Amino acid sequence: MAEFVTAVAHSNIALAKYWGKRQVQGNLPAVGSLSMTLSGLYTRTSVRLNPSLNQHTIWVVDAEAPNAFAERSKHFIDTVRQMVDSDAYVEVRTENTFPTGAGLASSASGFAALALATTEAYGVKLSPRELSGLARTGSGSASRSLFGGFVEWHRGALEDGSDSVAEPIAGPDHWDVRMLVVITSEAEKQHSSTDGMNLTRDTSPYYDAWLSTSPQTLKDMKAAVLARNFDRVGELTESSCLQMHAVMLSARPGLLYWNPATVALIHAVRAERAAGLGCYFTIDAGPQVKILCRPEHVERLRERIENVPGVIRILEAAPGPDARVERA
Ligand code: PMV
Repeated sequence: MAEFVTAVAHSNIALAKYWGKRQVQGNLPAVGSLSMTLSGLYTRTSVRLNPSLNQHTIWVVDAEAPNAFAERSKHFIDTVRQMVDSDAYVEVRTENTFPTGAGLASSASGFAALALATTEAYGVKLSPRELSGLARTGSGSASRSLFGGFVEWHRGALEDGSDSVAEPIAGPDHWDVRMLVVITSEAEKQHSSTDGMNLTRDTSPYYDAWLSTSPQTLKDMKAAVLARNFDRVGELTESSCLQMHAVMLSARPGLLYWNPATVALIHAVRAERAAGLGCYFTIDAGPQVKILCRPEHVERLRERIENVPGVIRILEAAPGPDARVERA
């Protein structure tokens, strides 16, 4: 039997957010986005062809069964299988170093690692750009997890999506900043982001405003990251996050991803900032709060927020590396 191929991909957090699809098929985004890849928070996925199987077997370590990621993975693997016109099914073992499905972008690192490991296992050679486009079809934000450092995912305009791929704008060594990931719930999220995005597009009176303001935010964010302008990046990060949550909240029924601890953390971050500590929050489709800060402020900030009611634990990440295949 073939050997397992193992790939590792890191999670990413958008500083300029993606919300909304210009086409659901292939996860083509309505807006471009920009993220930071996270060191320490990653998915490790091993794949091998197994001729004795008559369907794919997916084992998600520590996941509750049935697992939504496992089901989506099967369709994803079939697209790769069709590329090479193979009859072979695969065995997959995948493991996250952080909670699955709670707004922590586990589908981003998950589909990026799966794209890399599956193409290697089937012997398909793709460029990083093509791998990013493939990962996007599993989960939009996965397109960004192929690359380390600071990454832009282009909206693109082509119907086949071939121009909607991510590319690194600066590597992990460009800027020594930190992202604290504050966990306030370890429950699986209730709605898929696709359902949330469709509901927002179909019912929010503010959706067009979100589409028209996002490109400028992205442009400003890119310039601020390249200039390492911390306060500018922080201000744009909070603004993009709050604009995204405003459009989510204005759907009918409104999408509210926050819990009381999420709100308490927003206030805590702003209070620390008023007291002179440079820190800025961002929140995705879940209740966790991610805080952008400088390395020298991590300890002080941890002390201030660990006692906020509802905080379960705090993870810390620096800009992380590219996705890669691990050779035994
Ligand atoms: O890639 P998805 O379908 O998990 O969508 C993620 C969208 C947000 O995390 C809310 C924002 C983003 O740009 O990552």
